[in-house]
Amino acid sequence: MRIAIIGTGYVGLVTGACFAQAGHRVTCVDVDQPKINLLNKGKMPIYEPGLSELITKGRQQKALDFSSDARAVAASTEAVFLAVGTPSSGQDGSADLTNLYEAIREIAPALQDGCLVVIKSTVPVGTGEEVQRLIESLRPELDFDVASNPEFLRAGCAIQDFKMPDRVVIGADSERALDALSGLYCAMGIEPTRVVATQRRAAELIKYAANGFLATKIAFINEIADLCEKVDARVGDVALGIGLDCRIGRQFLNAGPGFGGSCFPKDARALAKAGAEHGTPMRIIEAVLASNETRKRSIAAKIRAASGGDLQGKTIALLGLTFKAGTDDMREAPSIDLVQALVEHGAIVHAYDPVGIERAKPLLPECVRYHRTALDAASGAAAAVIVTEWDEFRHLDLARLKRRMAAPLLIDLKNMLSAEQVTGRGFKYCAIGNGTSPTRDHAFKVWSKPRATAYRTGDGTGRRPSISLNSKVVAAE
Ligand code: UDX
Repeated sequence: MRIAIIGTGYVGLVTGACFAQAGHRVTCVDVDQPKINLLNKGKMPIYEPGLSELITKGRQQKALDFSSDARAVAASTEAVFLAVGTPSSGQDGSADLTNLYEAIREIAPALQDGCLVVIKSTVPVGTGEEVQRLIESLRPELDFDVASNPEFLRAGCAIQDFKMPDRVVIGADSERALDALSGLYCAMGIEPTRVVATQRRAAELIKYAANGFLATKIAFINEIADLCEKVDARVGDVALGIGLDCRIGRQFLNAGPGFGGSCFPKDARALAKAGAEHGTPMRIIEAVLASNETRKRSIAAKIRAASGGDLQGKTIALLGLTFKAGTDDMREAPSIDLVQALVEHGAIVHAYDPVGIERAKPLLPECVRYHRTALDAASGAAAAVIVTEWDEFRHLDLARLKRRMAAPLLIDLKNMLSAEQVTGRGFKYCAIGNGTSPTRDHAFKVWSKPRATAYRTGDGTGRRPSISLNSKVVAAE
């Protein structure tokens, strides 16, 4: 199939590269000519693991190219995917659809009979109908379909998520559109049972509801983490204890400094706005947004308390700046609020990130000093703070780190490290949701065994009795 992808962000580029690899002839389009020039030279405008190789392969096989001429490309394609940005507009949180409608007006005159217009961008409920009406007004004679096909890929594992999705959601009001789109995905090896076919409006809302729910899970475990610190419990144990319940699920229960990124904040705001507009306030989502904003600002207070109550003139080393590991994306990253607050408390901020520094610089105060390694950033620091869960921070040389720092304080906002290991190297270790008493690693071993009897009495060795959680036996050392 000849496919056009309008928009070359994370979604557009991953979608285009994967469709090209699946044997389609794909052109990715963007109004940003310098970006298109970069891509046509084989260079990458974003960091996404595996994407550069996939794009190179697509270009070599002449299955993938890039253009800024949307109209010319639309004239020779059977399906046009809209993957343009729909950022929050202004204070009210509604989605700004300027890019989408500009793209539709650009391609409408060139669309061929029988073409399929697919909206992959995250858009408010009802946008598919608006797009249909706009194209009909511009091309009354055209035979076409408009479908909704929201994307659920995550930065950092986007290609895997696109190729092996939990589900593909297709919102189509015609069998022809549904057959064409589901055929496209099933031909890539996606099980038909994973294709959810529904109306356009439901598909549009599924995207917001999914991100709203995931953001809610994160805000929930973050608040549980705060309670854990007060009642001297470990949030990791609580997350495991609830997450093993298949109705809850273990994922997205990792406490941290708050959620960021280009989607959760934006989509939660848009969902709250939609609720307000339709007279059904999304009070839970509103609370999630408020909780997350407060959290991102309160993390600096945690660092100040751990550093003796005063940050004036102290060097604080931030390890990781991007909103999550595996990406260079800094949009609404917790580090942005954190740096602002640290600087306001008089701290001297030094920072390291494996890939995000260039995107971070314009977003952070000029006083921030950037370094090429974590150890360099921590040199002379009163505290080293893990902000993003880059894998290299799991393997920090703690002995060398301690020698470089002014004080052995390690604050782990992503609960990546073992309290026992870090304190065993002479550090004061401060994590999220780990209570106040000296933490001791509970080496939870979860292994599958026949359903054990519940709560066997202790065997007199003083070890905690093993307990049975569902069909698994969990024993804490
Ligand atoms: C998200 C959705 O997961 C994806 O389905 C959608 O298509 C786009 O938005 P993304 O924003 O790329 O993907 O990353 P994700 O892994 O969901 O993390 C979002 C934020 O939540 C990050 O700041 C991350 O650090 C945070 N997070 C995630 C937590 O704090 N705890 C968790 O357990 C998981």
